[in-house]
Amino acid sequence: MASDTATEAVLLDGLNGLLEDLYGLQGEIFPLPGEHDLNFHIRTSQGRDYLLKLHAPCDAAELDMQVAVLEHLVGTTPNLPVSRAVPDRNGAILSDVDYRGPRKARLLTWLDGNVWAKADVRGKNATASLGGMLAVLDRSLESFTHPGAKRIYNWDIAQAERHLDHIGFIEDEDKRQAVRDILDHFAAEVSPRLQDCPRQVIHNDANDYNVLLSDDGTVSGLLDFGDMVESHRVVEIAVAGAYALIGSEDPLATIAEIAEAYHRVSPLSETEAELIFDLVKTRYAVSMCMAAKQIREFPENRYLLVSQEDVWRELQRLERENPRLAVLRLRAACGFAAVPHAGRVMHWLERNAHTFAPVIRPATARPETVVFDFTASGPDADELSGFEGAEFDAFCEDRIREAGADFGIGVYGEDRTIYKSDAFEMASPSIRRSIHLGIDLFAPDFEPVHAPIAGKVAFFFDDAVANGFGPTVLLEHETDGGDVFWTLYGHLSRRSCAKLTIGQRIEKGEAFAEFGQRSENGDWPPHLHFQIVTDHLGLEARMHGVGVRSQWPVWREISPDPSVILGLPVSAAVTVAQDKATLVRERHLRIGRSLSIAYSDAPLKIVGGEGTYLIDETGKRWLDMVNNVCHVGHCHPRVVAAAQKQMGELNTNSRYLHDTLVEYSRRLTAQFPDPLNVCFFVNSGSEANDLAIRLARAYTGNRDLITVDHAYHGHLSSLIDVSPYKFEGKGGEGCPDHVRVAEMPDLYRGRWRYGDKNAGKNYAEDVQRQIEVLSGEGRKPALFFSEGILGTGGQLTLPEDYLKHAYAHVRAAGGLCLADEVQVGFGRVGSHMWAFETQGVVPDIVSLGKPIGNGHPMAAVVTTAEVAAAFANGMEYFNTFGGNPVSASIGLAVLDVIRDERLIHRCFEVGNRLMAGARELAGKHALIGDVRGHGLFNGIELVRDRETLEPAAEELDKVIRAMKQRHGILLSSEGPHHNVLKIKPPAQFSAEDCDTFLAALDEVLTGLR
Ligand SMILES: Cc1ncc(COP(=O)(O)O)c(C=O)c1O
Repeated sequence: MASDTATEAVLLDGLNGLLEDLYGLQGEIFPLPGEHDLNFHIRTSQGRDYLLKLHAPCDAAELDMQVAVLEHLVGTTPNLPVSRAVPDRNGAILSDVDYRGPRKARLLTWLDGNVWAKADVRGKNATASLGGMLAVLDRSLESFTHPGAKRIYNWDIAQAERHLDHIGFIEDEDKRQAVRDILDHFAAEVSPRLQDCPRQVIHNDANDYNVLLSDDGTVSGLLDFGDMVESHRVVEIAVAGAYALIGSEDPLATIAEIAEAYHRVSPLSETEAELIFDLVKTRYAVSMCMAAKQIREFPENRYLLVSQEDVWRELQRLERENPRLAVLRLRAACGFAAVPHAGRVMHWLERNAHTFAPVIRPATARPETVVFDFTASGPDADELSGFEGAEFDAFCEDRIREAGADFGIGVYGEDRTIYKSDAFEMASPSIRRSIHLGIDLFAPDFEPVHAPIAGKVAFFFDDAVANGFGPTVLLEHETDGGDVFWTLYGHLSRRSCAKLTIGQRIEKGEAFAEFGQRSENGDWPPHLHFQIVTDHLGLEARMHGVGVRSQWPVWREISPDPSVILGLPVSAAVTVAQDKATLVRERHLRIGRSLSIAYSDAPLKIVGGEGTYLIDETGKRWLDMVNNVCHVGHCHPRVVAAAQKQMGELNTNSRYLHDTLVEYSRRLTAQFPDPLNVCFFVNSGSEANDLAIRLARAYTGNRDLITVDHAYHGHLSSLIDVSPYKFEGKGGEGCPDHVRVAEMPDLYRGRWRYGDKNAGKNYAEDVQRQIEVLSGEGRKPALFFSEGILGTGGQLTLPEDYLKHAYAHVRAAGGLCLADEVQVGFGRVGSHMWAFETQGVVPDIVSLGKPIGNGHPMAAVVTTAEVAAAFANGMEYFNTFGGNPVSASIGLAVLDVIRDERLIHRCFEVGNRLMAGARELAGKHALIGDVRGHGLFNGIELVRDRETLEPAAEELDKVIRAMKQRHGILLSSEGPHHNVLKIKPPAQFSAEDCDTFLAALDEVLTGLR
């Protein structure tokens, strides 16, 4: 050993001279592994790192290709994490050297990171960034050609048939057979389809030693372009997948994540998506052939043997995967329908539902039913888990009898814990099937089963094991469009199935089978498991009746909700809860991208709410400090009860007389000063503001509008027009002709600041200036928009008398004044019910929204009898949902709770406590520039310098994240500079909640220093 090290030292010593002579570099040299080339990590005395490659004599074209590709990538994708070539003193990238024989030297920049195979974190971040990076690389390589890439190459999976001759080198018979099967399948099925897939030069070796990961698990480097070849680009994904899946819990999920990320950057075709799984297996087969060949040539190469253990183990895992399911999962990962014709089948079923015959009890027109709950959290869970044998049957019978039901129902989509045996494990034992894919119908044994749709007997299997399906039949059907699907009937009687023959035609309504007894149906109470099957995964009548939750988007297409066929009088399906990643993916597919997701890097899945808390899917409670919508508290029981009660009695439009609507309008207008006595009911703040514009135009005969800078008044086109926050922002089209923007009265950073007694009057002069501009053009304002505290402006309280002066100017010009109370109304400001009251004014129109229904979509406009009368010009104002009895009941309950729980006073007390506490923190944390608000509508503005007021937006972003991550407190930012911490919690926010917030803020700000 010692002499080896000595030899090494001498050799490395020789390298020092080489480095100095060629590149003028000095430093430490560390040898690195390499199959053909000698590789060294160089750390110079200045602390710079390089990779020195001394290439073994090889094909000159191949080496030239390696040099050329890096040059190409620097030009096309400079941000790609690949090395850059460093020229020698003569400007050459390849230099002839003599080092243990003649070699070509090449110096490359060093890439930091841990090799994938040894990295600690290899989660979804890693797979997603690997897929994305390879897609960017391949996009760039589309325009790269090189004679060296057009080669016959054993490591190109697309040329895998070349290895058919090498199979004999594999000694182990099982392995040999496995490889033969894969290569035969490749030649017969894969290779012909591959011909339709795009070709280009690919890296072809993103293996677990060529991919580097940074500490956060994202890809920081891709090494070794020595295996490049012109092949099919989908091979790139298969190679990466084959290595990335080593040791992963769900190998197919790993491949799918890479494919999904690749597809997002560079869309794959359906054929490409479908071939990935076979290509991964082909890569293993190729690797096994290559290794067998090399081991025969170099029997002492232990390394090969060890790496082959991984390959064989992983291949066996992949062989346990259902290959059809794998293809469907990969299709879904790439955004394609998992089962291409499933959508058409469902559409056909929906359209023809009225023609289907009942599956049981055809003579009972409207059967009575009882729905069972077999979930772990269901009311019978304990009892169910303790049942032995026929006790379960008695339970079902009793329930049906007690309910006076014709039959019992087991629900589709239910997550069941009753499936305990190994048969419910997938390829990886930790991934189990638990979601029910059919609907169960419980009735006595030998109950006749009728065909709902005409078809033929396609498959039969007697799954005669405990917890199995027992005798099972699949009937095959065809839609008018020629799409084939099946209906599955499990737990039948043996004697009824004995009468059936494969291919036998079954007419609609025909009683073709019957329920089995416990002794023959897999040891279950007598029942029918009825399931739609759009793709039997090659399993025929061995088809699964239970699917995997994490793969639900795929299973849902394989076996859609059979309610469509059964037409039951109750809901017999539940929505299957999905993990966050799946929800994000599905949202992106089906919901417009212009809607953002809060905390998009770590989104929250919220499943419940209580008081001031939101509750996520794990049961964790988050203190909600940005929810003025659920004003009286999440799921306030009085509001919930009012909604449920009214929903059960009546919900219709407001053209009929109803006590609740009139009572609500009385109670609501009673909250306003005279002459604001008339209501209109609408469904959103935007609708309220839009109606306000129509009212003002009808009353004044004017068209123009004045709004305050940075304001937001709603999402309708008419309101984007008066929302500088939108029309001046991204995607905005600027201020329209009929709108004038008045200066925002900002007492913190505006022209007149805190302490200036004339600030309100001075800022209001700009409203007058806008009126003058209009009148210069012969126009007059119809309506002036303002909030009582400026929300998007940065939670700005108005200067004293601002609205008094502004309203006077507007009215003098013949216009009306609107108070937008959508954000700030209903007592939030603490001193009053409405924020405009803090300014001592009475507007002409008030718009109400968000808190009015505590989360129920309703809104209102309150105005004067005079304005309302001017609007009643013959054209009816009809709003389908506005003021419906359910909304009115909810509105009443909200007013009751505000009154009975003294919430206005609470906003006052707790809001003052919060602002006093925050001001105290400002003494300690220079970052806090201003604390403002009324009651519980507050802003804490962060600045880097209290003199220059430089906004501290990045710091605020960190604060918001830390408040969430470390303290479970939800907040958001506001203001034109994104540096104002926005605070508007439910009005139930308590003194304790306030103190929790202040302590957390103190801790987070201290940590920022
Ligand atoms: C001040 C103000 N007005 C109007 C609206 C529009 O309300 P909605 O989203 O209910 O249409 C909003 C919504 O954020 C708002 O903040």
